[in-house]
Amino acid sequence: MNHTAKKILKIKPFNTVIFGGDGDLAIRKIYPALFHRYVDNQIKCDFNIYAITRSKKKHSNFYSDLKYSIEKTIDYDLDKTKIEDFFQNIKLINIPKHTEIDYEILKGELNKTTSFQNIFYFSTPADAFGEISDMLKKSQLINSRSKVVLEKPLGFSLASSKDINSKISKCFSESQIYRIDHYLGKETVQNLMVLRFANHLFEHSWSSEDIDSVQITVAETIGVEKRANYYEQSGALLDMVQNHLLQLLCLIAMEPPAKLEANFVRNEKLKVLKSLRFFNEESILKGTVKGQYLGGKLDDESENQVSSYLQDINKFESETETFVAIKAYIDNWRWKNTPFYLRTGKRMKKRYSEIIINFKSVRHNLFPSQGDIPGNALIIRLQPEEGIELVQMTKLPGPGGYRYKPISLKLDYLDSFYERLPEAYERLIIDVLRGEQTLFMRQDELEAAWAWIESIKNGWEKTKFKNILYEAGSWGPGNEILDKKHAWSKL
Ligand code: BG6
Repeated sequence: MNHTAKKILKIKPFNTVIFGGDGDLAIRKIYPALFHRYVDNQIKCDFNIYAITRSKKKHSNFYSDLKYSIEKTIDYDLDKTKIEDFFQNIKLINIPKHTEIDYEILKGELNKTTSFQNIFYFSTPADAFGEISDMLKKSQLINSRSKVVLEKPLGFSLASSKDINSKISKCFSESQIYRIDHYLGKETVQNLMVLRFANHLFEHSWSSEDIDSVQITVAETIGVEKRANYYEQSGALLDMVQNHLLQLLCLIAMEPPAKLEANFVRNEKLKVLKSLRFFNEESILKGTVKGQYLGGKLDDESENQVSSYLQDINKFESETETFVAIKAYIDNWRWKNTPFYLRTGKRMKKRYSEIIINFKSVRHNLFPSQGDIPGNALIIRLQPEEGIELVQMTKLPGPGGYRYKPISLKLDYLDSFYERLPEAYERLIIDVLRGEQTLFMRQDELEAAWAWIESIKNGWEKTKFKNILYEAGSWGPGNEILDKKHAWSKL
């Protein structure tokens, strides 16, 4: 065990009001995150969690579902009675219709406490955000110390994202709004900042002068699960690229911020998003691939055949993509003509998220007998098997002349750090409590991301761009299409 003293940040007494408090996301992510920070003693103060539900029906199962969900996340030695202790802080409140009477009940509850701040967590569909904000305001439940946390999807287009924001911003100022992109809470994603800005070696060669291309891949084995309606509207482009992949791209491509403060970092990310080259009817054909999964076997050993996307959503036809690959360019000084390959898909062969920085080859080949010398590659594994590899050419031992092979220098998180890696939501929720906005998206970032994404959506619509069908358990289509030379690493 690593006993390095951990600085425990003091968190002031708080109330968290979770709308959608019996929803899947809350049960799987939000309460377990609060629980782990509580048992780790990072939350030591008085706190109350109000789970707001729309129907009373689910109340009887609430605590048993929650217990089961929290138990699943305990991967270390822990006295399970702590779960019951934690439950003492949770109260269920039924708000079926967002009426003034309902909010009076909530107000009564909150007024009984002496909390420093109220955190309103909106884990409902975004079309309810405006109404909830209004009612909170009318009931005088919002003050300058209140915060609001918003879960995605924050709209399905630039216009709808602006609309949601205009409703919320009537009640909360930008400095009170925390838009969650859970990728930003992942340890390995936060490490991108340290990797780039605490290592002269890398930052020094971090541009198109030295970098040939960048690949950002998020491959998943799961299908659309129980979210058919949502996914039919969003597809892989909106579900993954508009937020998670673009945020990763920003962290890789942005200029060093002058300070590690929220608006310094967000300003730099915004510049990247605004420099993304838009697609048109011509470039969309060469620069994107989209696909949809058929049924198939997820791995060779598995007997289980999984169903196709159409079976999963119970329809005969759909143009929604479950896979997308994009060759993107950032038109700025640093990244001129460096392709950024973004790829994500469901029902792929393996769950795998990684970023590969492909460096250029050496200027002059001293060892021509082996052909072209491959460039170095920096492989950043986000999940699972978190770690970093630097692929470098190494001489093969022996007297047979200069023969070399690419060999990796490896840093494996599990071997190097013995502590448990906290879940993304744990870090994000603590940041909300501390009022730290660096890991949350600002509205202008969101709008710039939407503008670029819409150039893709429009390009697809205008060219009647078709999905390529791929078997579940494969690596999806498009590996050869975008650029043969840069076929994805794992193939
Ligand atoms: C969510 C998407 O935002 O991220 C899901 O809506 C996706 O479709 C999930 O499965 C992936 O998150 P993670 O942390 O499992 O990589």
